[in-house]
Amino acid sequence: MSTTLETQYAFHGAVEVHDQLDALETMLDPGTAECLRTLGIPAGARCWEVGAGGGSIARHLRALAGPGGHVVATDLDTSRIVAPGAEILQHDVRCDPAPPGGPFDVIHARWVLMHLPERRDVLSRLADALAPGGWLVIEESAVTSDGLPVLTSSVPADAELFGRFSGAVVGILADAGADPQWGAHGLHSAMAESSLEDVRTVHRTDSWTGGGPGSRLHSIHTRQLREPLGARGFTDGDLARVRHIASDPAFSALGYPLVSTCGRRAQRTAQR
Ligand SMILES: C[S@@+](CC[C@H](N)C(=O)[O-])C[C@H]1O[C@@H](n2cnc3c(N)ncnc32)[C@H](O)[C@@H]1O
Repeated sequence: MSTTLETQYAFHGAVEVHDQLDALETMLDPGTAECLRTLGIPAGARCWEVGAGGGSIARHLRALAGPGGHVVATDLDTSRIVAPGAEILQHDVRCDPAPPGGPFDVIHARWVLMHLPERRDVLSRLADALAPGGWLVIEESAVTSDGLPVLTSSVPADAELFGRFSGAVVGILADAGADPQWGAHGLHSAMAESSLEDVRTVHRTDSWTGGGPGSRLHSIHTRQLREPLGARGFTDGDLARVRHIASDPAFSALGYPLVSTCGRRAQRTAQR
């Protein structure tokens, strides 16, 4: 499939994307697996993993769907998707038609739509690609430019720097067209307005301790977003200090929340 639209996605072409995706999967996969478990996905399911990243959830769906099922994993950049047994397709979810293999029993996207200014249209087109009774699972975050709350820090100045840094990262993503608060403001109602039933939302927030996978993500962001962070007044010395904080086991903060919203297409449409 062809991509004709320019992307504003803040991490398109960024350094260390492989490590970034690895950190995301380590942090977020347990919450996503729990969310998918509650849906009772049957063997033989047809699944579409949108914006598959490193492919961990495509692999998980592959295992749930079993040998009689089918999993399509799509992304703007498929070079990092590892998902044996899944069909991997280059695809721009903003403008390309749904991939072959549908209608789908499960469509899942994590931390993808919030980056796209067209998220509402994308969501309704994903809902249209569902089979009757099929589940749409959209997972986003819910953070503001106030930054992530610090839980423990032995150095007060570090807590202040980290708060400013994490708030600036949220602001940079918003400047690139993302809605980092969408998980808390808009996602649930958008699902309900897309004629989905049984819409429900679970909000998970873990603490991230220095040296752990979540804190690794902060370090990666200091390098990926060095230029826009510099434009917001962060010196290389500040960013080196953020990396030091992120590796300090005495430091902890709340991580980016994982907000999981799911809804299903009606089993059958009313007869006229
Ligand atoms: C933050 S990463 C999340 C990756 C994966 N969903 C996860 O949670 O581990 C966002 C992913 O969305 C993909 N993406 C961004 N814009 C896209 C678009 N317009 N169409 C399809 N994928 C897109 C990126 O290439 C990237 O792999």
